[in-house]
Amino acid sequence: MPERNRQVLLKRRPNGMPVPGDFDIVDAPLPEPRDGEVLLRGLYLSLDPYMRGRISGQRSYARPVEIGEVIEGRVVGQVVRSNHPGLCEGDYAMGGYGWQLYSTVPGNGLLKLKPNEAPISTALGILGMPGMTAYIGLSNIGEPKAGETVVISAASGAVGAVAGQLAKRQGARVVGIAGGADKCRYVKDELGFDAALDHRSPDLGAALEQACPKGIDVYFENVGGAVQHAVFPRLNDFGRMIMCGMISEYNDTTPRPGPNLMSAVRKRLRIQGFIVSDHWQRYGEFRALAAPLVKSGQLRYREDIVAGLDNAPEAFIGLLQGKNFGKLLIRLGPDPTR
Ligand SMILES: NC(=O)c1ccc[n+]([C@@H]2O[C@H](COP(=O)([O-])OP(=O)(O)OC[C@H]3O[C@@H](n4cnc5c(N)ncnc54)[C@H](OP(=O)(O)O)[C@@H]3O)[C@@H](O)[C@H]2O)c1
Repeated sequence: MPERNRQVLLKRRPNGMPVPGDFDIVDAPLPEPRDGEVLLRGLYLSLDPYMRGRISGQRSYARPVEIGEVIEGRVVGQVVRSNHPGLCEGDYAMGGYGWQLYSTVPGNGLLKLKPNEAPISTALGILGMPGMTAYIGLSNIGEPKAGETVVISAASGAVGAVAGQLAKRQGARVVGIAGGADKCRYVKDELGFDAALDHRSPDLGAALEQACPKGIDVYFENVGGAVQHAVFPRLNDFGRMIMCGMISEYNDTTPRPGPNLMSAVRKRLRIQGFIVSDHWQRYGEFRALAAPLVKSGQLRYREDIVAGLDNAPEAFIGLLQGKNFGKLLIRLGPDPTR
């Protein structure tokens, strides 16, 4: 076992799109687990859009990462040393912390993983926070019914791919929006959406008219900006807009003028935001539904795995520019289960 840890720290707060110089990569001593804690060796680090908010310093529903701190993130790894009765050396678990190779975390907060149930990396994607986000957004807010039209932005991504497949299982017509021909092909041909539209095409509004002849009943909003502007006026009466995220606006330095929300009144729309972490008590229910579907291949997923912690800043910047194709993970070390 190496005696040193390696970490990515926040060097300064990004101004607009982050750049590699906003991050510092350093060696550090290996942390010692205290009573009730374990030392986890990271195998996969999840990179997620919410991290842009955490490094901005804005007050939000969660504490920001301070300058000089390890960047926040969730890790799947292997227990190296345990001071917790429920976890042994060699166990696989989800719940390691941060952009670093090793972390010490309370054993109580870890989810033990069985490699024969699903690849352990899926605990950060389809069977983890992003999959759960899709499930909560649809079941609590969207509530799609058979025959309704559901539109999903960032449809090839970690949340969108699951949301579309779940809506399809409920009998809805599902239209995905993604960036570029390859992602659109994947969304339609491999994930089984009814149609996929490229948000870079010159007239997204006309493409939506054609793909959604009966209008839009549910919009799963992951993107904001121009995509939101094209979808919003096409919502039907009593439409539901699942306000999950607006990634296209995360690097804005000045706020944009908002949509004309008067439609929400006229059309009796329900527009509701949600944060997946308020709903963890339903995680068991989600995993019981989704894990067998993943195992049987009925719920499909794609991972975009970048090797090496040192490449995390560049991969994260790529995520904010749509360069990832599938759930973005950093491989921190060799995965003995694959
Ligand atoms: N509310 C919650 O609790 C919660 C939890 C998790 C995630 N979220 C939100 O869900 C959304 C999706 O997250 P994810 O983890 O599934 O990420 P992801 O889709 O795997 O990756 C981000 C994707 O966003 C798209 N994108 C980036 N910039 C864009 C732009 N300017 N215009 C249009 N699309 C753009 C890109 O896809 P294309 O190439 O297809 O454009 C990119 O691949 C994010 O807004 C995130 O903040 C919310």
